[in-house]
Amino acid sequence: MQILVTGCAGFIGYHLSQRLLAEGHTVVGMDDFSSGQKINSDALRQQPRFRFVQHNVAEPLTITDHFDQIYNMACPASPADFDRRRLHILATCSRGPWNLAELALRCDARLFHASTSEVYGDPLVNPQIESYWGNVSCNGPRSCYDEGKRFAEALLAAYRREYGLKTRIARIFNTYGPRMRADDGRALPNFINQALTGQPLTVHGQGQQTRSFCYVDDLVDGIIRLTNSAVDEPVNLGNPVEITVLEIAEEIIRLCNSSSTVIHVPRPQDDPNIRRPDITRAQTLLGWDPTVERSVGLARVVEWFREHPPR
Ligand SMILES: NC(=O)c1ccc[n+]([C@@H]2O[C@H](COP(=O)([O-])OP(=O)(O)OC[C@H]3O[C@@H](n4cnc5c(N)ncnc54)[C@H](O)[C@@H]3O)[C@@H](O)[C@H]2O)c1
Repeated sequence: MQILVTGCAGFIGYHLSQRLLAEGHTVVGMDDFSSGQKINSDALRQQPRFRFVQHNVAEPLTITDHFDQIYNMACPASPADFDRRRLHILATCSRGPWNLAELALRCDARLFHASTSEVYGDPLVNPQIESYWGNVSCNGPRSCYDEGKRFAEALLAAYRREYGLKTRIARIFNTYGPRMRADDGRALPNFINQALTGQPLTVHGQGQQTRSFCYVDDLVDGIIRLTNSAVDEPVNLGNPVEITVLEIAEEIIRLCNSSSTVIHVPRPQDDPNIRRPDITRAQTLLGWDPTVERSVGLARVVEWFREHPPR
């Protein structure tokens, strides 16, 4: 197939593009480098069936190729970006999928869209199931991302109902792996780089808030299964093993053989208290289950950051 991957210079977009290339497809990668890394697009450009297009998906698309599938991964995803790029994020989540929906209609392509567990906000149910409507602030500091992603889901649902567009939507929970940005402000890369450099690990609040971390290869497998399936309802993709932020910090210190300690810093506003996916839908409809143990996945990320220390 000929496939468009937006956000290919980002963390998940890179791994997804590599996997699609390994399966024998031709991939056009699109990115504007707003939160991506050249090291990722440069590595992809080494591949003969890959072509890179630098473009902001929120701007009109001029690309004339035919695509069988489109994976829309473009969007800054780290809380640090919510402060730095709020209007960019809102444009990316609204005009971006709008432009891509039109392109998908023209090509009669399937359109995969990366939604997020943040559509559940600070959830009042645990684990979070797809039928839960969420507990989201529509104007708080995270609203550019949370509401942007909710708008994108509404937009694609409208395109599906109005024009029969073949949409595939995954609500992605915290994902980790090599090639995350060291300075992107997310807990895992922060903790690992602090542990590797002997700095204290900065845990938000008492660290009793929970997260569920999915290894990127598992996630990519789920994304491809979903896109190739007939499932047009949103599907949670994540690892249901839940852990507190304090526990993960301590685990990382042990894994890195680090002498770092933990210090507690104020929690950001609207930071979710709990995060755990109910993945029954993915299990039953896609036959998908995450398989990579956290100790194995974390060891690979530690290795990556040892070899690629932040500049
Ligand atoms: N990593 C996670 O844990 C996680 C969790 C939930 C959802 N997601 C979603 O998955 C997708 C990928 O996340 P990631 O962790 O790889 O983030 P990332 O920031 O590493 O990658 C996003 C990529 O999109 C590019 N981009 C941003 N805005 C763009 C625009 N307007 N036009 C073109 N390119 C643009 C960035 O430059 C970057 O390369 C995002 O949509 C994110 O919301 C990620």
